[in-house]
Amino acid sequence: MNITAAEFVMSNSDVKKCPKPDKPEYAFIGRSNVGKSSLINMITNNKNLAKTSSKPGKTQLVNHFLINKEWYLVDLPGYGFAKVAKNTKQRFSRLIFKYIESRPNLVNLFVLVDSRHEPQSKDTEFMEWLGINGIPFSIIFTKADKLTKRKLAENLEAYKKVMLESWEEMPPYFISSSSNGLGKDEILNYIEETIKT
Ligand code: GTP
Ligand code: MG
Repeated sequence: MNITAAEFVMSNSDVKKCPKPDKPEYAFIGRSNVGKSSLINMITNNKNLAKTSSKPGKTQLVNHFLINKEWYLVDLPGYGFAKVAKNTKQRFSRLIFKYIESRPNLVNLFVLVDSRHEPQSKDTEFMEWLGINGIPFSIIFTKADKLTKRKLAENLEAYKKVMLESWEEMPPYFISSSSNGLGKDEILNYIEETIKT
């Protein structure tokens, strides 16, 4: 898939005000600072579409973007970063869960995890919750440029091992870097394939 048009539609703190769920939707979710907004900018070839920051907690609202006039891409606030105040964390996770539960048009949730880290229970528990609730998701291992190929392969194996303790098979997954464009084609192809079905 080629992205030829990416437009900001609206930001919401109230999921009821999000656009009518009349188009296929793909959302990016994960811990604060994992690189959700940067990845959105990378795959849409637009450095300024989603706001990014080196400080966690930058994205605070549900942000809808209309892609190629035919599907929605959604940037969400992050969950569970230690340096974000407790009440902010709670507000973000309420918003995230309400968002997921209110979008019948959600085709796939991309759960982003930092490829440098060992599996974190915040992420694996969240994915278990998605499984129980029948929400389709795939994983994106981000910031792959920050480690060697060898270390990346090791971390991936370790992640798979932990996932296979709760899952019969590894969910679809991608490896990305917003600095060098790694993963872009694979992620866009996956969207193209799933949007039709
Ligand atoms: P919140 O909105 O706070 O939840 O964060 P986010 O997940 O949207 O992260 P964001 O895209 O704002 O990126 C956080 C920081 O990580 C920024 O300083 C980015 O430049 C950096 N970053 C994101 N992706 C990558 C990547 O693939 N490689 C490298 N080296 N840095 C990245
Ligand atoms: Mg963000």
